[in-house]
Amino acid sequence: MRIGILGTGGMASALAEAWTRRGHHVLVGGRSLDKARALAEQLGGGVEAAAPAQVARDSEAVVVALAWEGIDAVLALAGAGEGALAGKAVLDCTNAVDFTTGLLRPPTGSAAQHIAERAVGSHVVKALHLFAGASWSASAPAGQAARTVAMCGDDAAALATAGELVRDLGGVPAALGGLEHARQLEGVAGFVMRLAATGHNPATAVPALAP
Ligand SMILES: NC(=O)c1ccc[n+]([C@@H]2O[C@H](COP(=O)([O-])OP(=O)(O)OC[C@H]3O[C@@H](n4cnc5c(N)ncnc54)[C@H](OP(=O)(O)O)[C@@H]3O)[C@@H](O)[C@H]2O)c1
Repeated sequence: MRIGILGTGGMASALAEAWTRRGHHVLVGGRSLDKARALAEQLGGGVEAAAPAQVARDSEAVVVALAWEGIDAVLALAGAGEGALAGKAVLDCTNAVDFTTGLLRPPTGSAAQHIAERAVGSHVVKALHLFAGASWSASAPAGQAARTVAMCGDDAAALATAGELVRDLGGVPAALGGLEHARQLEGVAGFVMRLAATGHNPATAVPALAP
C-alpha cells in the first residue's frame, strides 16, 4: 500500500521503518521538507520525502503523527480543508495530552474529532497512540506479548484498512466503535502516561480479566 505519514519525528520514523519492512511504500512529510528528506535518507528504500500536499494526494491511507501544536498547520499544508484527504482512511496516532498532568488538551471532544473536522470528507480512525513507536521496530524484544491496538472510527472500510496496517506492524486490532469513543481512548493514554510519570507500572494498574 502507499501510506502517507504527516510528521517527520520519532513516531513517523518508527512507523515508516516498520511498514517498509513489510513491503509498503511510505511517503513522509511535515512542515519541513528538509526534515522529511533527512528521514527518508536515513530510512532508505521504500521511504520517500514529500510536501504535505503530495503526501495527501499520493497516499491511499494517511497517518497523522504530529504534535498537537502542529496538527492544524500541517493539515492546512496538506490541503485537508479543501478535501485533499476526502475518501481516505486517516489514522490518528496523536496524543494531545498535557504531559505534566496527564489531562487531555482538547477541552471537549478529542484530537481525532478535531482532525476529522479539519480533514473534510476523510474517514478518521483513532489508532496506534498508546504504544511507543519503538515497540514496532525490528529491534523490539522478540516474543513480546501480543499488543492489542484499540481503535475507533465511523467508516467500516477505513477501520478495515487501519486493522490491516496494525496487523502488518505485528499488532492485533480491536475496533471499539465509532469516533465518539476517541476521547475515551485518548484518556487511556493520558492515564498510562501519568502512572508511568509517577513511578507506577501501568500494566499492574488494570485488572487482569479473562476475555
Ligand atoms: N514517539 C512515540 O513513541 C509515540 C507513540 C504513540 C503516539 N505518539 C504521538 O505521535 C505524535 C508525534 O510524536 P513524535 O514522537 O513523532 O514527536 P516528535 O518527534 O516531537 O515529532 C513531532 C512532529 O510534529 C511536528 N510539529 C511540532 N510542532 C509543530 C508545529 N507547531 N507546526 C507544525 N509541525 C509541528 C514536528 O515537526 P518539526 O520536526 O518540524 O518540529 C514533527 O514532525 C504525538 O502526538 C505523539 O504523542 C508518539
